[in-house]
Parts: sequence; C-alpha cells; structure tokens
Amino acid sequence: MEEFKIGDLTARLPIIQGGMGVCVSMSGLASAVANEGGIGVISAVGIGMSEPDYRKHFRESNKIALRKEIRKARLKTRGIIGVNIMMATSDFDELLRVALEEKIDVVFIGAGLPLKIPAFLESINQGDTATKIVPKVSSSRAAKLIFRHWLEKYERIPDAVVVEGPLAGGHLGFGKEELQNNRQSLITILKETVAGMDFFQQVTGREIPVIAAGGIYTGGDMYNMLQSGAKAVKMGTRFVTTTECDVSEKFKQNYIDCSKEDIVLIDSPVGLPGRVIVNDFVREIQQGAQKPVRCPWKCLKTCDYKKVQFCISEALFNAARGDFSHGFSFAGTNAYKAKAIISVRETIDQLKEEFYREELRFQPIEVSAY
Ligand SMILES: Cc1cc2nc3c(=O)[nH]c(=O)nc-3n(C[C@H](O)[C@H](O)[C@H](O)COP(=O)(O)O)c2cc1C
Repeated sequence: MEEFKIGDLTARLPIIQGGMGVCVSMSGLASAVANEGGIGVISAVGIGMSEPDYRKHFRESNKIALRKEIRKARLKTRGIIGVNIMMATSDFDELLRVALEEKIDVVFIGAGLPLKIPAFLESINQGDTATKIVPKVSSSRAAKLIFRHWLEKYERIPDAVVVEGPLAGGHLGFGKEELQNNRQSLITILKETVAGMDFFQQVTGREIPVIAAGGIYTGGDMYNMLQSGAKAVKMGTRFVTTTECDVSEKFKQNYIDCSKEDIVLIDSPVGLPGRVIVNDFVREIQQGAQKPVRCPWKCLKTCDYKKVQFCISEALFNAARGDFSHGFSFAGTNAYKAKAIISVRETIDQLKEEFYREELRFQPIEVSAY
C-alpha cells in the first residue's frame, strides 16, 4: 500500500475518511484517522447545530463550530486534516473562508460544480493558499468541465479530484432511475476520469491524483480501486462504526442492526437522491407524509423550505443525537456489513490485512524450491 501525495502533502496511507455532515465526522474521528496516517475530514455541513444557540445565530454557530473543531483536531494530531463543504449550503463561502483562515490542509467540495472558486480565493486574498482544493464529482465529464474552466479562466487547476460512484452514503450525484437500475459503476467512471485527467496533467506538468469513493468498504475494494488508477480511496460508511466517530452510539448501532434491504433511497430537499437506513420516519415520508418543518434559516440554497416535506438538516441532526423517531441516518450500500464498534486503529489494521490478502490473490509470492 503506497503513500498518497497531494501536492506537497504526503499521507502515509492512501485512505481518506469521507466528511460526514450534521455532526457525524468532527474532530474526534478526523484526528483519529489522521493519527493513523490517513486524511481525516471534518464535515462543515450543519456543524453549528451542535452549538447551544444555533436557532438564534445559525450562521455564526456554523462558523464558530467549524473553527472550534479544526482547532480541536489540530490539538489531537499532527496528521493531515481536511474539511468537507457542500456547494449547496447557503453559507458555503463563509465556511470556506473559515477553513482557509485556519490553514486547513485540504478542502473537499461536494454537491455542486465549484467553477468559480479561484475567483473567490482571489477576492479574499487567498489566491496563493497552500490549502488543497479538491472537488467531488460523479462523472468524468463533470471533472473535465471543472478542470477546463479553471485552466481557461484562471490558469490553474484543482489539486486532485474525488470521483464518487453510485453506492455511496449520503447525497448522490446520480438520478434515482440511474441508481435503481445500476446503470453506472465506480470502476468505469474512475477509469474514464483517470483517462480524462491525462490532458490536464500534460498541459500543466502536474500530477492530478484521482480519488475513488462510494461503496469502498474492504481492503479488497481498496486494492481494486488502486489497481484501476485511483491514487487513494475515500470511505465514509466504514468509519461510522468506530469508537472515535463523533455520532451517538444509537446511530452506530443502527448500522450494525440494519440489513442489506434496509438501505434505501429517498428524495432529499437538496434536490438529489440520498441513501439512508429505512425506519418509520423514512417510510412515512416515502408515503408522502408532511413532517413539521421549523426552518431556523434556509441552510440549503436549493431548499424551498415553505414546500418541503421534511427538514433534512433536522432529520439528520436528530438521528446523529440518537432520536430516530424524528430522523434517519445516511448510509452507504455496505453499511449492513458492520458487525461491531471498533477503534479507528483496528479498522485501519483490518483494511491493511484485507488489502494485502487481495494483493496476494492477484500477485502470489513465488516460493522457489532450494
Ligand atoms: C452518514 C454520512 C454523511 C455524509 N455526509 C456528507 C456531507 O455532509 N457532505 C458530503 O460531501 N458527503 C457526505 N457523505 C459522503 C462521504 O463523504 C463519502 O463520500 C461517502 O461516504 C463515500 O461512500 P461510502 O459511504 O460508501 O464509503 C456522507 C456519507 C455518510 C455515510
């Protein structure tokens, strides 16, 4: 298993923990992963909901909580820490600014095409920031669009790209019909994206690491992705059932108790499908029930809060705290594989063992007779 380089940063392991919003991946999980040699990621999405006066000062709460969590993570590790921000959030710019002010190592940008980021960086005098900027896409077409736009307009490119396939947890960049009919596979999209980056590598003379995500659960899965051109993998679901994950025990237990059939798709007010673990709350919204929506503020650019059936942030926050009567958990297709809550170190050890077992299967060591 080789180390992972992104610009001048080197992680001992090619493992990135996916940012998990609304208080699932905070400083606890991120620092534990970073301490083991991977890249730990704090999700800025809904992070302020953990603050006592969130309902009164939502915008400030998000900024305060993000700054606090980055600083807490820095106290716990000297490893690489990233922040995940969704383009779809109303305070995207402000959260990005906090992350840059805190000199975060990497920013992963999901749920949208980050076309104008270089202009924003210039506007806040961060044009020469050392922070790595990494968009997350679901197709090679989207990756090429972002890279071409940045290159033509700003004469720079993102530092890496995450390509996420259809099996991931959380919001998905595919149509529901595509997901239900298994029309796409991560391996195919990954290979297309790796090939699509060739041109930009040649023009800029820079290496562009492609990171694979979505449904990667075992070291064997990791091996296959790295063999298919990925330089690292990004895993969310696998890290939920760790001792250090910042979410409630009930949330982790929900993963351990669920079956394969319990993992379903819903329509999220973000305007994208989301993958969740079914429960009564989910069944009710699937049947069209209207849930009370007490929108403290319009946290998502795309949310029509006067019309939505439920508040996604509240539902996820309730579940994060262990209240499944008023919420549900996001989860990847492999969540049912979790058997117990173990430490991040044990998880990484298992991943390494699974990886080397798969490697041996494909590259058996020749034992010469002597
Ligand atoms: C509980 C949960 C919450 C997530 N929240 C976010 C989020 O806030 N923003 C984001 O860009 N991705 C989010 N994701 C996606 C992860 O960052 C990662 O890309 C994904 O989990 C990879 O697929 P996997 O779960 O199969 O490993 C979430 C995933 C899970 C499981």
